[in-house]
Amino acid sequence: MSNYLIVGAAGQLGIELMLALQKKHGPERVVLGDIRPVDHPDAALSTFVQCDATDKKAMADLVDQVQPAEMYMLVAMLSAKGEASPLQAWGLNMDPLLHALELAKDGRVPKVFWPSSIAVFGPDAPKDATPQNNGLRPTTVYGVSKVSGELWCQYYHQKYGVDVRSLRYPGLIGFRSKPGGGTTDYAVEAFHSAVEGRPLHCYLESTETLPMMTMEDAVRATLELMAADGDALSVRTSYNLQGCSFSPAELVSELRAQGVSLDVMYAPDTRQDIAASWPNSLDDSAARSDWGWRSAHDTPGLVGAILAGLSQPAIG
Ligand code: SER
Repeated sequence: MSNYLIVGAAGQLGIELMLALQKKHGPERVVLGDIRPVDHPDAALSTFVQCDATDKKAMADLVDQVQPAEMYMLVAMLSAKGEASPLQAWGLNMDPLLHALELAKDGRVPKVFWPSSIAVFGPDAPKDATPQNNGLRPTTVYGVSKVSGELWCQYYHQKYGVDVRSLRYPGLIGFRSKPGGGTTDYAVEAFHSAVEGRPLHCYLESTETLPMMTMEDAVRATLELMAADGDALSVRTSYNLQGCSFSPAELVSELRAQGVSLDVMYAPDTRQDIAASWPNSLDDSAARSDWGWRSAHDTPGLVGAILAGLSQPAIG
């Protein structure tokens, strides 16, 4: 029986992947690693190991103990937070990945997943349907670390045959956890504000369009990529992934169309500059042709799905 290891399990994406992997393989096959506890009731169904992913020996010990068939290395500092502590962000975004790649190179992990981001693109990339390989000159430390990490993934694959797979996630919108220091997180906050009847203090301009996706679609994409035939994967840096795209004003208008009003006070700050350097939408044709990716949610679908999730009882 195989084990599945999530490192960075307490983060926004980690909790969602935990639930999906528990459902797919059984909670007893899922091991959760993080420096802090995983704030979800179902975390208690799986083994939790407190660990520091920047500590090479701790990662090696964890992998030898768990012997995972797949390792999801999710530890990261997102874009807005990263700008406040660039060198710390660089260390946190690179060291855990390099430890995972080294362990895979040594044959101790057969398959690794590592998340990349729309943040790999810089201001000179085409804004609409941004191609896979154009304009990878980011202006944030988060983007710099993601481009570098992608190249390390490709290097370990080409040089050592490491099976590492990656996706460039857009802004991920879930209802189970609160935002975690990203630029796209205004949209997560918008949903919480809307259902709680509070105004949103929005740090982006009303017209700033960004690519977005439900957590549900992002997790499905991740599991589909991990299950794909490795020989079919033409991209070993990281795949562009497109869900839907909207601006704060368009989000407010779709919420209103679905019967939820939200007052917004716009006060753009430095996060607006970050958002302006990113694409409006991505060309994800490589993901579509290589492993059959199809997004399930357009903007109305995303808004409906998140509102439905937030109205469920006992949300973590
Ligand atoms: N959601 C991330 C951020 O805003 C981008 O991948 O930092």
